[in-house]
Amino acid sequence: MAKVYVFDHPLIQHKLTYIRDKNTGTKDFRELVDEVATLMAFEITRDMPLEDIEIETPVCMAKSKVLSGKKIGLVPILRAGIGMVDGILKLIPAAKVGHIGLYRDPETLKPIEYYVKLPSDVEERDFIVVDPMLATGGSANEAIHSLKKRGAKNIKFMCLIAAPEGVEAVKNEHPDVDIYIAALDEKLNDHGYIVPGLGDAGDRLFGTK
Ligand code: URA
Repeated sequence: MAKVYVFDHPLIQHKLTYIRDKNTGTKDFRELVDEVATLMAFEITRDMPLEDIEIETPVCMAKSKVLSGKKIGLVPILRAGIGMVDGILKLIPAAKVGHIGLYRDPETLKPIEYYVKLPSDVEERDFIVVDPMLATGGSANEAIHSLKKRGAKNIKFMCLIAAPEGVEAVKNEHPDVDIYIAALDEKLNDHGYIVPGLGDAGDRLFGTK
């Protein structure tokens, strides 16, 4: 069964407060999202495999640990997911970055893929799918399907703010995908916005409306 991790580190919670605040402008919003993404990347990489190598310190030979070179793929869901990419790459700079673009079919309201570009070695990578908001779970589920149908086997999903409805939807559809969240909010409103949330993450990141 999927595990859900809520990163309630004080630094993350502090920065999230200013991300939520409607008076925070585009520049600060972008910087704060970047910083929280870095802090979350620190937590999400906790289970990365290590191996021993031998090195020589100024004092003696020593066995010491390095990352065992597990390949990571980072996949932002367009467009708001892009705001979290650089912050994560600060800690895992060798990660390859794929992109998945989805739009909502106006009749069925289902998310439809319009753009997918992934690293060529999908089957060998562990993937982190990122989107700041996990609302209904429709986009997250479709992006995860998209990766799985191309051969991805190990996928994590990371977002800033989730609604309980979205968490349940991803857990039900992808029980093998762990979910990493900075805050679990109350609910979705009638317009599909997370409450209290932060508004439209894409608009706030890119200064559009
Ligand atoms: N997407 C957003 O950007 N904000 C929400 O509250 C829900 C979905």
